[in-house]
Amino acid sequence: MADVNEKRPVKITETILRDAHQSLIATRMTTEQMLPIIGKMDEVGYHAVECWGGATFDACLRFLKEDPWDRLRKLKDGFRKTKLQMLFRGQNILGYRPYADDVVEYFVQKSIANGIDIIRIFDCLNDIRNLQTAVRAANKEKGHAQVALSYTLGEAYTLEYWEKMAKEIEEMGADSICIKDMAGLLVPNEATNLVKALKAGTKLPIELHTHYTSGVASMTCMKAVEAGCDIIDTAMSPLSMGTSQPATEVMAKAFEGTPYDPGFDQNLLAEIADYFRPMREEWIKSGRLDPKVMGVNIKTLLYQVPGGMLSNLVSQLKEMKAEDKYDAVLEEVPRVRSDFGEPPLVTPSSQIVGTQAVLNVVLGERYKNLTKESKDLLLGKYGKTVKPFNPEVQQKAIDITGEQPITCRFADTLEPELDKLEAEMKQWKQQDEDVLSYALFPQVATDFFKYREAQQSKIDPSAAKDGAYPV
Ligand code: CO
Repeated sequence: MADVNEKRPVKITETILRDAHQSLIATRMTTEQMLPIIGKMDEVGYHAVECWGGATFDACLRFLKEDPWDRLRKLKDGFRKTKLQMLFRGQNILGYRPYADDVVEYFVQKSIANGIDIIRIFDCLNDIRNLQTAVRAANKEKGHAQVALSYTLGEAYTLEYWEKMAKEIEEMGADSICIKDMAGLLVPNEATNLVKALKAGTKLPIELHTHYTSGVASMTCMKAVEAGCDIIDTAMSPLSMGTSQPATEVMAKAFEGTPYDPGFDQNLLAEIADYFRPMREEWIKSGRLDPKVMGVNIKTLLYQVPGGMLSNLVSQLKEMKAEDKYDAVLEEVPRVRSDFGEPPLVTPSSQIVGTQAVLNVVLGERYKNLTKESKDLLLGKYGKTVKPFNPEVQQKAIDITGEQPITCRFADTLEPELDKLEAEMKQWKQQDEDVLSYALFPQVATDFFKYREAQQSKIDPSAAKDGAYPV
C-alpha cells in the first residue's frame, strides 16, 4: 500500500465507445450516436478512450453500413486531447483467421495514420510469437503497443507463469501490459497477487480490463489499484456492469479521498451519462439490450466459461434440438480444454473448444468428429499452448488430415498476400484502407463497397445489390 499522503491517481480508460456496447448491445452504437458527446468526453481527463477495433470494424461494415475508417477519422477530429485506443487480435487482426505479416503491418500502419494512439494486442493462446509482428509495427509507426495477457485459470497459470510472461513482453518491446479478464474470472484477492507478480516481472505500466459478468469487477479493480495497477477500464454507467465494465462515475467516486483519486468532475460525468441514458432506454425497449446480460452470472465462475460463450452454447444446442444436453456440455468444456492444451477461452479459442464440446456430447462419442478449427489447433496452426495436447487426440488430427503438426510460427508459412488482395478488389477501391476492409471480411466489405457506390450515385442500394439497375 502506498503512503497515504503520496498521490498516485489511477488512470481511467473509457470503454463505452467499444467494449461496453460490444458486450451489451452487439456493437450497434453508430458514429452518429457517438459524435455529439465526444467534445464533452474529451474534457474528462481520461487516460484513453477505447473506441475502435474488436468487433466494431465488422459491425460497421456488416450491420451499420458505415466505413470504419471514416468513423475513426471523425473520432480523431473530435478527441483533441484524449488518446484513442483500439483492440487488435494479434496475427488475426480484427478477423477470424491468421494473416500474413504484410497485412498485419499495413493494418497497424493505417490504424495509426488514421488516429489510433494505443493498440491493445492479444493472442488467444498467449503465444508471444503471434504478437511480435503487430508490436514491432506499432513501434515502427510510433504508436503505443500494449500487450494484453488473456487471463484464465488452470494448473499451468501460476503467478510465476504470469510474471515470466510480463518479462518476455517487456523484452519484445511493448509499452504497457494489460490483464485482459474477458470472462470476469479475476477475484479481488487474486488481483492483488497478480498485480504484484506482474510488477515484480516488469517496470511497464499495468492496466486491468475486466468484465462485470460474475459480479466482482469493481472490487477487483479497487484491489488491483491498491496493489499498484496503473490504469483501469470502465464504462459510463448507462452501458456499464452486466457483461460490460464497472461504471466510470462509481469507480471515480470510490477513489475520492484516497491517493488514487483520478480527480474527475462528477458533474461533467453526469452530463455525459445523461446523453447516453435515453439510448439505453431505447435499446431496452427494442430488445437490443437484453436484461439477461445485465445481471450477475455466477456460472461463469463455476464453469470458468465466459458469458458470451455460455449463450453461444445455448444457441448451438437449440439449433441441434439438444437443449437437454446443456449441463453435459458444460462439464465437457473443461475436458476438451484440457485435451487442447488448456488455452484461455477467448475469440477464437472459446468457439473452437465450445463447438468441439457440443459435438462430443451430441454425437455421444469423444472426438468422433473433429471440426476444421479443432484440427488446425491440434496441428499447431494457432500457436503453442501452455500445456501439451493430449497425444491421442492430436494423433486423430494427424491421421485425418495426413499433416504433421508445426512448431514454428504459423505466419512464417504464409506468403505475403497484400498484392493478391489489391488485385481482387481494385474495382471497388476509393481509399488505400479499402483493401484492409476487404482483407478482413471479403464478402461483407464487397457488399459495403456496392452499397457505398450506390449511395454515391443515388441508385437504390437494394437494386444495385441484386445487380439490377433502375430504368
Ligand atoms: Co473486454
